[in-house]
Amino acid sequence: MKQIFAVFFITFACYALANAFFSPYCQENATCVRGCSWGLERGFNGVANRVLPGHDHRNLTVASPVLCGRECLIDDRCFSFHYSEGERRCELNGATASRYPMELIEMEGIFYYGPEEPKLVQLLASGNKTGIPSLTDCWYHTHASAASECRRTGQHLCLQWELDHASKEGYPTTPPSWYADPDSLAVLNETGVTYHDLPLTAPSPGLCCSLPMTYRDPVITPKSYELADRAGQARGCSDLAAHPCTLAELKEAYDHGYRSLYWGYLATPNRHAIVGCHHGDDCYQGTIANTPRPNERAQVYCCPNRT
Ligand SMILES: *[C@@H]1O[C@H](CO)[C@@H](O)[C@H](O)[C@H]1NC(C)=O
Ligand SMILES: *[C@@H]1O[C@H](CO)[C@@H](O)[C@H](O)[C@H]1NC(C)=O
Ligand SMILES: *[C@@H]1O[C@H](CO)[C@@H](O)[C@H](O)[C@H]1NC(C)=O
Ligand SMILES: *[C@@H]1O[C@H](CO)[C@@H](O)[C@H](O)[C@H]1NC(C)=O
Repeated sequence: MKQIFAVFFITFACYALANAFFSPYCQENATCVRGCSWGLERGFNGVANRVLPGHDHRNLTVASPVLCGRECLIDDRCFSFHYSEGERRCELNGATASRYPMELIEMEGIFYYGPEEPKLVQLLASGNKTGIPSLTDCWYHTHASAASECRRTGQHLCLQWELDHASKEGYPTTPPSWYADPDSLAVLNETGVTYHDLPLTAPSPGLCCSLPMTYRDPVITPKSYELADRAGQARGCSDLAAHPCTLAELKEAYDHGYRSLYWGYLATPNRHAIVGCHHGDDCYQGTIANTPRPNERAQVYCCPNRT
């Protein structure tokens, strides 16, 4: 059953906090868009009985969550905050729940307030966060620095199918964000994912994904098959709960670090492929060498079926 969480809003007019912007507290090559640099208004959305432990850097005692939000906006290192009504404790956090979706936990009597939009706050507060990407708090000028921020938490920039999955799970609209492909930016919304050319100057956040439980490297059939025996090849993969890999899937495997120099068949007929590229080969997206006139018999690259 889907539970709906009430979301509480606090909005600030930025002219009142004119000196609050532009003091980024981020890594090299990154820009912070916290505080007022987003626009003329700045809001926090809160949810009751949730905390993001382990990222607090300052505690204050203030009379209301609004005052706590003001403290957050004028603190360079604050990305989100907790407020507990009883103790009037205002806890400033150096990270957001959208960056650490798995870490937002239940705690009676404390509110989590963050820059996430209401739908995202609700999604994060719901119990099931399987496969939810993490959106970086800082915005990066290069693919490499976004990728390095993902690696810092043991993640990778999300692959296309991971983004498709997140969108199906109801992940709300994101800004144009870095993902696995260095040549474009992804925008997620609940109806799908769109890809955009890189802007020349604007920095972007990164979408980090964790290695999904369901991911497995391709497997090569133990037997080899005649080139024309497509049914046999498919059956060979099927025995392994898999199907002949497409070029896109082999690239995905490559992006996961899989390499193989065996010339095997794949989903594309009358070609064979290796996972890697040599100089002079016909390469799919610079990663998968695949050429016509394949060997007359070969084993098959099989990619696991996903449920
Ligand atoms: C803030 O207060 C909470 C609750 O007492 C405590 O767990 C946390 O360590 C404190 N944080 C800092 C930075 O003092
Ligand atoms: C969580 O969501 C995933 C993806 O939709 C689903 O496969 C899984 O069964 C869900 N788990 C629970 C406990 O609801
Ligand atoms: C920042 O950018 C410069 C120039 O593009 C690069 O040499 C440097 O390694 C980058 N630093 C980080 C931490 O990504
Ligand atoms: C989601 O993205 C699609 C494709 O760009 C667009 O047509 C649609 O209007 C967007 N939906 C929302 C709710 O923003």
